[in-house]
Amino acid sequence: MRVYDVIDAKKRGETLGEEEIAFFVREIANGGAQDCQIAAFCMAVLLNGMTDEECFLLTREMVKSGDAAPRPRAEGVYADKHSTGGVSDSTTLILVPVLASLGVKCAKYSGRGLAHTGGTLDKLESFTGLRVDLSPEEFERQVEEVGGAVSGQTEKTVPADKRMYAVRDVTATVDSIPLIAASVMSKKLASFADVILLDVKYGDGAFMKTAREAERLARLMVSIGKSAGRRTLAAVTDMNAPLGDNIGCNAEVNEALQILRGEKQNRLSELSFFHAAKIVQAISGCGKEEAFAAVRESVASGAALRKLAEIVSAQGGDGKEVYGAFPLAEGRHIIRAAEEGYVQMSALALGRACAALGGGRAREGDTIDHTVGILLKKREGSPVQKGEPLAEVCHNGNAEEGIALAESAFCVSDKKIKCRPLVYAFFGGERR
Ligand code: URA
Repeated sequence: MRVYDVIDAKKRGETLGEEEIAFFVREIANGGAQDCQIAAFCMAVLLNGMTDEECFLLTREMVKSGDAAPRPRAEGVYADKHSTGGVSDSTTLILVPVLASLGVKCAKYSGRGLAHTGGTLDKLESFTGLRVDLSPEEFERQVEEVGGAVSGQTEKTVPADKRMYAVRDVTATVDSIPLIAASVMSKKLASFADVILLDVKYGDGAFMKTAREAERLARLMVSIGKSAGRRTLAAVTDMNAPLGDNIGCNAEVNEALQILRGEKQNRLSELSFFHAAKIVQAISGCGKEEAFAAVRESVASGAALRKLAEIVSAQGGDGKEVYGAFPLAEGRHIIRAAEEGYVQMSALALGRACAALGGGRAREGDTIDHTVGILLKKREGSPVQKGEPLAEVCHNGNAEEGIALAESAFCVSDKKIKCRPLVYAFFGGERR
């Protein structure tokens, strides 16, 4: 068998068998397949699709390409949550300490922001000295001792995905449902979580533009998780407007801290508590009300905030910083409503604006400015008077492009806006 034959078969719309998929993934991981061949394969999948069985086999072989994270010795059920990426989504910073404070062990491998989306690892690095490059042994020990850890994956975790994703990123082949499903689920299955909650975003700030596409992706990932024997839950959630009110690393961490201190309630707290309660329900078998009450109590009692301080300290950061606020850039520009009406906004334009201010990266390895960002003063659908502030841009100069993008993110409609529900669909969680 040659790499060429597998590409040719997919190009002709054939269904690939176990042997062909295993061979192709091995060739990606060992360098036998060239970048141009990986690109051709990905484009053939994007255009011709894959059956659910092919996608499961692709995922399984990708997992085999690397070293699975060792399962900690401590007994218990391990949980993980994954978002497909969006703007102002700091749910991990809230969910992990909430769950860990309730005794649910949270082993969370996260990523960095790319293009217009934010990344949890970047946000965590707002804490002075905090490390996100824990070795598998450090990660395992921290989950055991503290109950929660958030770190980047190592070079050895699913190397086939690392290579394939880098090629997809520059060949317009990211937005293929089977390729996204295999990429996300290979990384989830390489970890030891027993319960996996997937937050699949749809809308202008997400990879999936419509709720129907997001639901297809979510159902495919749930079926892959289930076939691998993991309890997999999925929520399809709105990403047409930013989830929280703050965009930018320090600003988003400040908002998560306010929520954990019980000082703020908004769509970000609503979704974080929803996810946490769903995981508690799945693990303990308790009812919805009981799960929500436990989550709210962990915040009201300060237990979740104290747990975050512990996690930050365990990862080399300064745990006392959870009681303060991180600095924002001093340059300010206020975006005002051009007329009276109802606010509309684009998560994509706001994410791009933050990146253009220096808060995001165009390519892997770029450094980012944690202090820049955008603070929303009105939400999607809010009534507004002419001249009222819609948002505040925090910048460090040289900000024309970022400000122009942020201005372009808003418009005011003379008609009432029908707000979309935060959670469009929720399913999964059955045992195999
Ligand atoms: N996130 C991933 O990890 N992989 C994808 O393909 C898309 C989003």
